[in-house]
Amino acid sequence: MIRKCLFPAAGYGTRFLPATKAMPKEMLPVLTKPLIQYGVEEAMEAGCEVMAVITGRGKRAITDHFDISYELEHQIKDTSKEKMLDGIRNIIKNCTFTYTRQNEMKGLGDAIYKGNVLVGFENPFAVVLADDLCVNPDGDGVLKQMVDLYAKYKCCIVATMEVPDEDVHKYGIIEGNEIEDGVFMVSNMIEKPDVGEAPTNQAVIGRYILTPDIFDMIKKTKPGKNGELQITDALCDQAKKGMVIAYKFKGKRFDCGSVDGFVEATNYFYNLEQEAK
Ligand code: UTP
Repeated sequence: MIRKCLFPAAGYGTRFLPATKAMPKEMLPVLTKPLIQYGVEEAMEAGCEVMAVITGRGKRAITDHFDISYELEHQIKDTSKEKMLDGIRNIIKNCTFTYTRQNEMKGLGDAIYKGNVLVGFENPFAVVLADDLCVNPDGDGVLKQMVDLYAKYKCCIVATMEVPDEDVHKYGIIEGNEIEDGVFMVSNMIEKPDVGEAPTNQAVIGRYILTPDIFDMIKKTKPGKNGELQITDALCDQAKKGMVIAYKFKGKRFDCGSVDGFVEATNYFYNLEQEAK
């Protein structure tokens, strides 16, 4: 039902300078796989087959990663290293990649708006922020859980998790009524509130299902926190009409946009690999 997934990947990734000076943050590897590949695999598992990437200047490595490298293929053909390309070959074979650029970094809301030329105005679509790396060792991936929920509620869905008081200022925070276990009808959303201002500790992470009317809402939204067009503000207008669900996802999320979260994810996947040996 949800065929397209948008990957806003135009940010500067300043927290990883100098690594991100000439290389996109989304290409930083956790073990041997770039962050964005984890996101694409999660989207594939959720049933998406069109991956729509919002890029910017200096992001060509993403386009090249999701394309065939004939030289490399030739070089490693029939060697033991060939199997290391199985995952990416499978992605290239089964998905279509489309790209557009966000010329100015005017915020996540603006990046998503730019995606309208890729995802269209007819159908709901998923959004994955690849620097939020999500895993669920006990079952379906986070996006698949959300796609299943969409089948029931048919409205915008944001994935949320509890964060400590001292972290609420880093996230969009929601307020709402629990309508079933872990599912909330959102009544209000605030982008990066101060501790005293936050109505709850439920923070939105980088997974969304959006209905195409969001593009109209973004168009009407004025720049918010930090002068950026915030997707939280556009969604808040939808929420006031009872059209946004917050879902406390099952699994774990690593904030790979921060050095601490990135190291945590690396250790997690390294330990998994060691245990499997
Ligand atoms: P971040 O807030 O993590 O910003 O964006 P950033 O620029 O990537 O990183 P720092 O803070 O400078 O280290 C969250 C997500 O939204 C995308 C980013 O690429 C990232 O996936 N984004 C943000 C855009 O695509 N465009 C924007 O204008 C802002």
